[in-house]
Amino acid sequence: YVIGVDLGTSSVKTLLVDLQGEIKGEATASYPLIHERPGYSEQNPEEWVNGTIASLQQLLRESGISPEDIEGISFSGQMHGLVLLDEQNNVLRNAILWNDTRTTKECREIEQKLGDGLLKITRNAALEGFTLPKVLWVQKHEPELFARAARFVLPKDYLRYRMTGHIQMEISDAAGTLMLNVPEGKWSEEIVQAFGLPEGFCPPIVGSSEDTGTILPEFAKLSGLSEKTRVFGGGADNACGAVGAGIVREGDAMCSIGTSGVVLTYEEDKNKDFAGKVHFFNHAHPGAFYAMGVTLAAGYSLSWFKDSLAPELSFDEMLKPVADLPPGADGLLFTPYLVGERTPHADSAIRASFIGLSGTHRREHMARAVMEGITFSLAESLELFRQAGINTRRIISIGGGAKNPVWLQMQADIFNTPVVSLKNEQGPAMGAAMMAAVGSGWFDSLKECADKFIAYGKTFEPIPANVAAYTRLFKLYQQVYSATRELNQ
Ligand code: XUL
Repeated sequence: YVIGVDLGTSSVKTLLVDLQGEIKGEATASYPLIHERPGYSEQNPEEWVNGTIASLQQLLRESGISPEDIEGISFSGQMHGLVLLDEQNNVLRNAILWNDTRTTKECREIEQKLGDGLLKITRNAALEGFTLPKVLWVQKHEPELFARAARFVLPKDYLRYRMTGHIQMEISDAAGTLMLNVPEGKWSEEIVQAFGLPEGFCPPIVGSSEDTGTILPEFAKLSGLSEKTRVFGGGADNACGAVGAGIVREGDAMCSIGTSGVVLTYEEDKNKDFAGKVHFFNHAHPGAFYAMGVTLAAGYSLSWFKDSLAPELSFDEMLKPVADLPPGADGLLFTPYLVGERTPHADSAIRASFIGLSGTHRREHMARAVMEGITFSLAESLELFRQAGINTRRIISIGGGAKNPVWLQMQADIFNTPVVSLKNEQGPAMGAAMMAAVGSGWFDSLKECADKFIAYGKTFEPIPANVAAYTRLFKLYQQVYSATRELNQ
């Protein structure tokens, strides 16, 4: 057996998987977010460790499987979070998380100092969520504490350190720090020096299926794991989500609609130029990359709509009449900018809109427009991939958006590409388990493992009449951003 640990923002999930890719157990434990001030989002790394221990204990207890039979364990992690360590690897302060937005000033400083170098080296724009701006914030606002900082790690790399005693950073996560030379897969000396970071600040890099050690006796005792179980690098949650959905070859793309939404495509050309409009990160598959666009309020827009206008209904009840409406919801358009937007606009001030409301519109028209608006927003990211010359054969749809056949058909029609869902979706924890399976020698590569472990459901083909209707509406949708921008400046 292998275990995949998904260290998320609100909880940790552990998944037990056998040689056939069958799920043999699952357990979760949650932990709090700390918001000391508006825009601040932190977590105490000790909570991750305690949550993981509790979840592993439950997993082992409920599955009844002997710890000796667990060959490997690996991780998926919430990205970008800054964990600062002193010389003895003690945690110096709470981790500053990916959804913390206090670092706008630091982003501008990074742009100024690095100029063109920023895109050339990191292949990404400076965003508040990424790690380097957080490092600079601590350097400026907590200088005494920063003087004691010897190194940093990311959330799942800290958890792995507590399991093995070794400090390492895994490459697909290192890609989101804004300190990595992404095409070369190495730390950028230029960036480390430009910001005066201490020597050894960036830990040694390891691969996703690379062996990083075994379980320390004290962690084995607390969790119930065997000291013999081997621990493998793991990956960023988006990389793990992609692996768990079988995105391991050129032409593969994924659409994930959870609270936020992601469109992501597998890429082998390290020089593909997106001009920083989408994220470009190292993938968990060695030598590969993925490009990714993000819609901040995807599923969140639909939950907001339900909570505000249909609190007495379940999601299924609310979405049932949507199936009987035509594409375009009889002239109603929604833009999903409830909390700002990341791709393609990178604008935290923009807000959402309903446009075209008529006295004949009912609640189901609005629900349909919300689903369409979310999907249009993701289609804008897909459009950027297409402009960069990427050809997408089909899109694997995961998350809440893949649970509803009407929404799957809508995705196929708006993306004008066949859309497929997974038969037994397990999210990033499955990707992490696959990294442990490859690390344990069950397969030669993640590609081989994906062919064995992942089964697909029905394919939704684009319907030409719907594609035509949506092509026209998409052009209108794309004009709403600039037309409504000044409302919230
Ligand atoms: C990616 C990002 C989020 C986090 C969520 O850039 O910020 O997807 O990884 O955990």
